[in-house]
Amino acid sequence: MSNLIVLGAQWGDEGKGKVVDLFSEKFHLVARYQGGHNAGHTVYIGEKKFVLKLIPSGILRDGVKAVIGNGVVIDPAALIEEMNTLTAAGIPVESRLAISNRAHVIFPFHRLAEKISEGRSDRVPIGTTSRGIGPSYEDKIGRRGIRIADLLDSSNFSALYDELAADKATIAKAFNIENNIPLADIKKQYQEYSDRIAPMVCDTAKLLNDAMNSGKRVLFEGAQGTMLDVDHGTYPFVTSSSATAGGACIGSGVPPTRIDGVIGVSKAYITRVGSGAFPSEEHGPIGDRIRKAGNEFGSVTGRPRRCGWFDVPLLRYTSMINGFDSLIITKLDVLDDLDEIPVCIAYKLDGKILDEMPVRHSDLERIQPVFENRPGWKQSTRGLSDYDELPEAARKYVDYLASQTGVEVGCLSTGPERNETMVMPDSKLAQLLAD
Ligand code: GDP
Ligand code: IMO
Ligand code: MG
Repeated sequence: MSNLIVLGAQWGDEGKGKVVDLFSEKFHLVARYQGGHNAGHTVYIGEKKFVLKLIPSGILRDGVKAVIGNGVVIDPAALIEEMNTLTAAGIPVESRLAISNRAHVIFPFHRLAEKISEGRSDRVPIGTTSRGIGPSYEDKIGRRGIRIADLLDSSNFSALYDELAADKATIAKAFNIENNIPLADIKKQYQEYSDRIAPMVCDTAKLLNDAMNSGKRVLFEGAQGTMLDVDHGTYPFVTSSSATAGGACIGSGVPPTRIDGVIGVSKAYITRVGSGAFPSEEHGPIGDRIRKAGNEFGSVTGRPRRCGWFDVPLLRYTSMINGFDSLIITKLDVLDDLDEIPVCIAYKLDGKILDEMPVRHSDLERIQPVFENRPGWKQSTRGLSDYDELPEAARKYVDYLASQTGVEVGCLSTGPERNETMVMPDSKLAQLLAD
């Protein structure tokens, strides 16, 4: 019984939500393992649109357990709001959701710390989602964080919170903002949140391992994308968690030996939200056209996404880091109107072709993309679900991406809906989904 990881092969927003929702039919559990409500995973089911932030996309399937793993950081207010929205849409959240007792808690002062840091006039901001994600992970790694289990234990929470609050008050004093943080009010509010989420909290590592031991299948849903991974991404313009395949084990308590396949999700082009190097970025009017055709606006913050061309060296790098068994290419239909489609096939730095992804951000910003133009197909592929129906140039484009990246394209997406998808029958992906 295959357990699979589905994760972003670029800078996020690749269409993970659509893919996970579609595949969740074949799994018993869907688990998030990192990030928090900085993610925005959009799922269309008929007329209904869902944007999942903290809760795994598997929550939408009857019979699937949705698991928020230990590696996720949870803002209880955001969680409760998302639960309420889903409940109002008819999803029985309480019975489908399990929340790790080891996940860390985001507090309002984490958002405040991020705002202060991002707002400093003497730095280039990262362009975060302003959700307090980074400062919450800082407290986790700094060993002063508060976990969901602590929040639920009223006798201990008070003392742990007071200790963390004292730490924040010291910093606030240094910034002359101590009167602005209602530390006592936050404590009371969080004790109330705890009552609401308590029934769903458990040891999710045990839940997942027990389920797998009894023959159940788990789908791991990545958030963000490999190039936003704190170790392997375009540091420091990254998120604060492990968005790569390795993060799935750390953030869920499932051993690497239980993972049977890793699936990368990539757009047929590429986008990025926030600051940071973007070698194949399209600054001209075609970039605006793609943004419009692909509706490339952040699902969490509404910010316009920066658009660019499929980046082969980047994909080869993210494939190396994650060990992709198969690639899913989404949003092929967005390229339908183009005469020619540039593909970034190499980078140059100081006149030399690079073999490896530069480590320093200052170099990443300077690298020059080398493009090869591929012919467009100039006809609609929207909604196609059969490979043979694709225009020849579209098939050639997809085959070209597979040959350049060295990874099979196991699935193509031609629209946001579940049925606007094709899984290649002879692919490794089809085999992994069937096993
Ligand atoms: P995620 O964060 O990786 O789940 O991706 P987002 O939901 O943030 O962004 C992907 C957007 O593209 C969503 O609005 C999806 O509904 C949409 N989408 C996904 N696949 C396709 C596709 O094949 N074609 C088109 N046109 N839209 C798609
Ligand atoms: P999904 O799961 C795209 C980006 C932010 C910013 C950087 C750090 O929908 O693909 P953070 O708030 O995480 O500290 O911000 O990471 N970012 C995302 N970009 N998709 C996401 O999630 C993202 N989550 C964070 O824009 O550049
Ligand atoms: Mg998104």
